Amino acid sequence: MTDQPSPQPATARRSQALKGSVRVPGDKSISHRALLLGGLAAGTTRISGLLEGDDVLRTAAAMRAFGASVEAGNGEWVLRGVGNGCLLDPREPLDFGNSGTGARLVMGLAGVYDMPTAFKGDASLSKRPMGRVLDPLRLMGVQVEATPGDRLPLTLRGPKTAAPITYRVPVPSAQVKSGVLLAGLNAPGVTTVIEAVPTRDHTEKMLRAFGASLEVETDAAGLRHIRIGGQGRLIGQAIAVPGDPSSAAFVVVSALLVPGSDVLVENVMMNPTRTGLIDTLREMGASIEVLNGRVAGGEDVADLRVRSSELRGVTVPPERAPSMIDEYPVLAVAAAFAEGETLMQGLEELRIKESDRLAAVAAGLKANGADCEEGKDWLLVRGSPEGRGLGGGTVETSLDHRIAMSFLVMGLAAEQAVTVDDTGMIATSFPQFVDLMRGLGAEIR
Ligand code: S3P
Repeated sequence: MTDQPSPQPATARRSQALKGSVRVPGDKSISHRALLLGGLAAGTTRISGLLEGDDVLRTAAAMRAFGASVEAGNGEWVLRGVGNGCLLDPREPLDFGNSGTGARLVMGLAGVYDMPTAFKGDASLSKRPMGRVLDPLRLMGVQVEATPGDRLPLTLRGPKTAAPITYRVPVPSAQVKSGVLLAGLNAPGVTTVIEAVPTRDHTEKMLRAFGASLEVETDAAGLRHIRIGGQGRLIGQAIAVPGDPSSAAFVVVSALLVPGSDVLVENVMMNPTRTGLIDTLREMGASIEVLNGRVAGGEDVADLRVRSSELRGVTVPPERAPSMIDEYPVLAVAAAFAEGETLMQGLEELRIKESDRLAAVAAGLKANGADCEEGKDWLLVRGSPEGRGLGGGTVETSLDHRIAMSFLVMGLAAEQAVTVDDTGMIATSFPQFVDLMRGLGAEIR
């Protein structure tokens, strides 16, 4: 298992108005995929704006272990890929640390090769279910040796020739969809993934940009059929990674909650599979202006001007979950400051993220005086406008970066300070978080 460094607690207190312009780091999902495809494709891939967080750096290390040249300098990452079908035996176990995305996508990418590839991770990742990716890989002929419950550590070995499959993803998951599509790259013929609920589509878009033969069709029943032709040639590309909407979420909610704030968050990706939080906050009465909309690197991008707002509780329907799956912890914090009740439904996937996020959020809210109820797949928060009576507690972050950042946001507007037991994991996705927030005027120590 990955070694765990000693915890670094932090406390956030009620702050003066947040002011200024910031750029959040590159999107994590796109950063992983850019490294995977750049390391695989023939020729040179240049990536600007890559998220240099621990999760993504582990994907870079994995691609090096497979034989790709991966170098960083002058704000740009340059990869020389091995060529589709030509990954080398990594020899040592690949350590994905805290990263479910890195682990699951690489399982698809490399698992179908006729060589052993071993995977491990930290205590959080080792608890997370991998069966959702291993099941389709087994159908393609992959042999799996896993810890009971299909957990890490595990070793995969592909057959001489992988079998292309048609696979209907049983849960809405971009990681599973992507794992199967990446496996399909090394199988002869067409591999088809069917999804009932659209999830983030970065893998499809990027595979196409690298020259894969990929088509998407939505049938009369609304099912998305994604077909990829295997064993084609992929060619290196130039990729500009846009700002991560899931990281922008913490800045946006802070600016909404701290009275008098006026903050511009520049270069935020606005891919419609990722904007559920912005839609929800606007329904709650948030002042978020979407400015300067443009297309950059094949994705919709905009600048967000956010001014502090009085929020009202809303019901967030289950079908919105895939477009804001990582944003529920910070939405729950926003809801704790809203007038009335906010009901979030369809949250079963939150139980198997970096932590059981539903339980961690409910416990953190309760520890800080917020009124909430947790169900199997829902959360109800009764708000306390202006943060009256909120704060004063310590939150267990359970190796989860988004729990740590969400509760630091809470502390910026609550009556009493909020402490989180560890901020170390924030480096997995948003290493600059504390400095960037302090630059806007946030009191975090
Ligand atoms: C991701 C997909 C989501 C998300 C994760 C990143 C991706 O996970 O929670 O942070 O990059 O594909 P699931 O696909 O498991 O929902």
